[in-house]
Amino acid sequence: MNILFIGDIVGKVGRKALIDNLNTIKKKYDISFVIANGENISRGRGINRNHYDFLVKNGVDCVTLGNHYKDRIDIESYIEKTDKLIRPLNLLDDFPGEGSKVFDCDGVSIRVTNLLGSAFSNIPVKDPYLEVLNIIENDESDIHIIDFHAESTGEKKAFAYSLKGSVSAVLGTHTHVQTRDAQILNTGVLYITDVGMCGSYNSVLGTEINSVVNRIVKHDENSRFTYLDDDDRLFSAVILKFDDLTFKGVEITPLYIINKKG
Ligand SMILES: [Fe+2]
Ligand SMILES: [Fe+2]
Repeated sequence: MNILFIGDIVGKVGRKALIDNLNTIKKKYDISFVIANGENISRGRGINRNHYDFLVKNGVDCVTLGNHYKDRIDIESYIEKTDKLIRPLNLLDDFPGEGSKVFDCDGVSIRVTNLLGSAFSNIPVKDPYLEVLNIIENDESDIHIIDFHAESTGEKKAFAYSLKGSVSAVLGTHTHVQTRDAQILNTGVLYITDVGMCGSYNSVLGTEINSVVNRIVKHDENSRFTYLDDDDRLFSAVILKFDDLTFKGVEITPLYIINKKG
């Protein structure tokens, strides 16, 4: 069984990158289930109802989030009416929705868990390790995939090793830069430090170049981050391959596709 995991989709160009690639990849790699991180899909911040519906309509089976989980105010009112959207599990606030969910895929049960890391984070969170142990303890799913949304490379890898072989995959998100370290850990877990993003190729992490230069490099407090409507498009994802009988992870293949503007 092949599962596709798509990294943070950023704004309109990210949505176009998804349309460019998803159907082709599904056919080419015989994908049975699609997970996508949608924390930046609505103008770079959060996910509104329209964009959740866009993902589902275009073939995404599970949407995960990250530190931008509540940036769109409508999410609190619609998240519990959805069946394919999860938010981080280890939030301190009493936010609606779930952080871990089991999906049925032609008789195979796939659990997806969304966690926020704690190192260098601007959001205080419950301990991701202790929170996920509670889930693992009672988990009977065939495949368990974790979207570990975190800043620190070391925290992500240490976290993946800490779970030994008790989950199927730990996939890092949040930095928007795909790392070169996809591997099967010696614990059997499929791993990558960061899947990367879908969005503007000529950008800073998906955000328009000058808006970031002015704010970050030139310290212009009045400069606001903006997002292009059109650009060359980057699509970043990984394909996870599992044995059909044992559900053991057998391969992780990164995808990094650039589609020219137009
Ligand atoms: Fe992100
Ligand atoms: Fe993030």
